Amino acid sequence: MLRKSTLIITAIQLIALVVHSHVDLTTPCSRYHFAPRCPPPPAGQLYDYNTNAPISSGGINTEPLCKHSVPYAKRTVYKAGEPISTGYDIGSAHGGGHCQWALSYDGEKTWVVIQTEIRTCLQGALTGQSDVKIPVTIPKDAPSGDVTFMWLWVNAIGDRELYSNCADIRIEGRDGGSVTGVELLLVNYNTTYGIIPEFPNPGDPDHRELYDARKPITITVKSSGSTISSTPDPSSPSSPSSTPKNSAASGSRDHLQPLVFFISTTFLILFASLQHNM
Ligand SMILES: *[C@@H]1O[C@H](CO)[C@@H](O)[C@H](O)[C@H]1NC(C)=O
Repeated sequence: MLRKSTLIITAIQLIALVVHSHVDLTTPCSRYHFAPRCPPPPAGQLYDYNTNAPISSGGINTEPLCKHSVPYAKRTVYKAGEPISTGYDIGSAHGGGHCQWALSYDGEKTWVVIQTEIRTCLQGALTGQSDVKIPVTIPKDAPSGDVTFMWLWVNAIGDRELYSNCADIRIEGRDGGSVTGVELLLVNYNTTYGIIPEFPNPGDPDHRELYDARKPITITVKSSGSTISSTPDPSSPSSPSSTPKNSAASGSRDHLQPLVFFISTTFLILFASLQHNM
């Protein structure tokens, strides 16, 4: 018979497996992230034990931007102009990559990118490190409102992945006004969009020119907080046709190693326990 302790160890291993495979935004809490300091999921939603898994891999999209569409009931409040000390849990840093941070005032229809880090984003972060900090500053002129805050990451090494987590924040700023940034660049998402090939070594093309080509966008929030408008075209994120489309399948499988390790140790412990109890 299996002892309870063995089952508990196995369960912990399985949780560790899903929690430490990739990377996720953990401060502010990404939607339905499983951690004691994060709020429970909103009514009707479940904890997501895979907030650190990519939403797309090799041009195959499995989850939408943000992963989840129902916001947390309680929002983290930030003042306009305040730097958010965003935090990330690292399963595998994939050599860093390109990060965009964006705000949406209209329930994830229109995004304005407020900060971008090319190539070095999460570079050098160590497997198992938690709450790796990156400061992201809310623009000084950002109007007040309930806002979705998104982190979007294209990795440098590995399967051509795209990561997206969203946090629910409230910005305290001016009552109505506008915020300007650039449009969201969506790559590594699905075959409609381009794939940025791996850029492991200094000097490898990392296609930052696609990021440089993002158009400016201004989001206007009425003082009621309810009506918004934006310029230019709010409906589609930039999708440059020049994006390279090759090497979708050339990624290495580095993230599978911890998986194999955990599965094999789990089986070893189960096996040892069966022997012991027979
Ligand atoms: C890619 O995603 C976009 C946006 O969700 C969607 O409109 C399009 O149909 C998708 N393309 C494919 C090939 O799945």
